Amino acid sequence: MSSTPCIRIRNLVKSFPAGASRLEVLKGLDLDIALGAFAVITGSSGSGKSTLLHIIGGLDSIDSGEVVCCGVPIGSMQESRLPSYRKEHVGFIFQNHYLIDDLTVQENLVLPGLMNGLEKELIRRRADGLIERVGLADRREHHPQQLSGGERQRAAVARAFMNDPSMILADEPTGNLDEHNTEIVMQMLTEIVQEKEKTLVLVTHDMDLAATGEEIYKLSEGVLHRI
Ligand SMILES: Nc1ncnc2c1ncn2[C@@H]1O[C@H](COP(=O)(O)OP(=O)(O)OP(=O)(O)O)[C@@H](O)[C@H]1O
Ligand SMILES: [Mg+2]
Repeated sequence: MSSTPCIRIRNLVKSFPAGASRLEVLKGLDLDIALGAFAVITGSSGSGKSTLLHIIGGLDSIDSGEVVCCGVPIGSMQESRLPSYRKEHVGFIFQNHYLIDDLTVQENLVLPGLMNGLEKELIRRRADGLIERVGLADRREHHPQQLSGGERQRAAVARAFMNDPSMILADEPTGNLDEHNTEIVMQMLTEIVQEKEKTLVLVTHDMDLAATGEEIYKLSEGVLHRI
């Protein structure tokens, strides 16, 4: 593992409006994740795990602090520049697959490539390779509702790699799966991350899953504790 920083966060404060006042969720949080690391973030419900992942992924703004991901100072960046940061650097996987029902598995993978302006032949090759890699070659023409829950999450895993992002951000990616499918999805995810030398940040409640990470953090009282 290289020690080049992938994520560097200093004194991050994030609050949300709550009636007449504000709810401070992140209270001066620091985090360093090296390029190629596999970091896990745990913590009780409502502790701010998704909030933190959304900030790293350029989906949410911050109140104050420093957030630099892949060399990009996203904490201080104009909102209008965040979409291009996301396209270049971030692959998301959520608890709910968020595949588009009207599209086949293959089309669901092709879409982010087209949106990123990649060359058509590259998109086709990459989509086919990833579909094969997650064991869905004979399901490529299926629509999401024709897939099992585990298959849908495997398609979501494949899609996250389509734009060859620097980081994969996974928020409870196996939260809806049984133990067997959790194992399959996690094995595929971690193997592809390793092969492609990506950084993985995984949010989970599941302590067995958390234990597979190289760096494990607990989010509590608005800051991270290495465990
Ligand atoms: N858009 C929002 N507006 C107001 N409050 C919000 C918003 N998003 C999150 N919150 C609040 O911030 C806190 C942290 O939410 P977050 O979703 O980050 O928690 P979490 O650790 O991911 O929880 P879970 O494990 O249940 O997914 C919660 O108390 C939540 O109610
Ligand atoms: Mg959450």
